[in-house]
Amino acid sequence: MVSLTELLQRRLSTVHYNPDGHVPDSLVRELVEYATLAPSSLNLQHWRFIAVTATADKQRLQAIAFNQAQVGDAAVTLIVLGDMQAHTRAPEIMHQTVQAGIFSPETAATWIAFAKQLYEERPAFRREEAIRSASMAAMTLMLVAQAKGLATGPMIGFDEPALRQAFAIADRYVPVLLLTIGQPRAGNWPRKPRLPIDEVLEFYGVGAPAGSFPQRN
Ligand SMILES: Cc1cc2nc3c(=O)[nH]c(=O)nc-3n(C[C@H](O)[C@H](O)[C@H](O)COP(=O)(O)O)c2cc1C
Repeated sequence: MVSLTELLQRRLSTVHYNPDGHVPDSLVRELVEYATLAPSSLNLQHWRFIAVTATADKQRLQAIAFNQAQVGDAAVTLIVLGDMQAHTRAPEIMHQTVQAGIFSPETAATWIAFAKQLYEERPAFRREEAIRSASMAAMTLMLVAQAKGLATGPMIGFDEPALRQAFAIADRYVPVLLLTIGQPRAGNWPRKPRLPIDEVLEFYGVGAPAGSFPQRN
């Protein structure tokens, strides 16, 4: 069994897929089930996924993704969406949490009220939350796919209005990412270098002046 840290080391953003690769629908379902174990604000689970698997649909999607070949070659591309009306599901979600014996009815009522207060009048924040939560699910999915020997690639290179029209995406959903999944072929870059840890991490106030990484202040 490969450790999580090893999976993190192995994962890379795949561009070249074997066009003959296949990922059964049952495996797509399993990957998405694991992805939904990701956390989300108030457990509102903003993520939604459209699995594009048929050749003709992949070709349409590839054209919308500025003709990036990986969309046509990958076995499946997920259109990852975020629900900007997720707060309206709060009563139902909190009821489930009561049924599961986790929340008391009083706690559920508090969370429902909080969801209303936090989101109802704040459309920009709702969009941010939808993107945040769906991104958590997308990252989770990439790691589970990696654990199952599959390659993945996140993509923001697509024409949003064209995507909405071609795949009938309602206004309440923000397209967050395309996520290609499949069997890789030769020619992918290795995972690229990252910035040094000291450029991205500061232990606040411990041994270093606040704002020790560039441009923080
Ligand atoms: C939000 C986001 C959008 C991306 N969009 C694209 C894309 O449209 N096309 C593409 O080939 N790669 C895309 N990538 C992949 C990045 O280029 C890649 O993750 C980065 O170069 C680091 O590569 P590595 O993870 O393999 O080291 C995207 C990655 C993220 C996180």
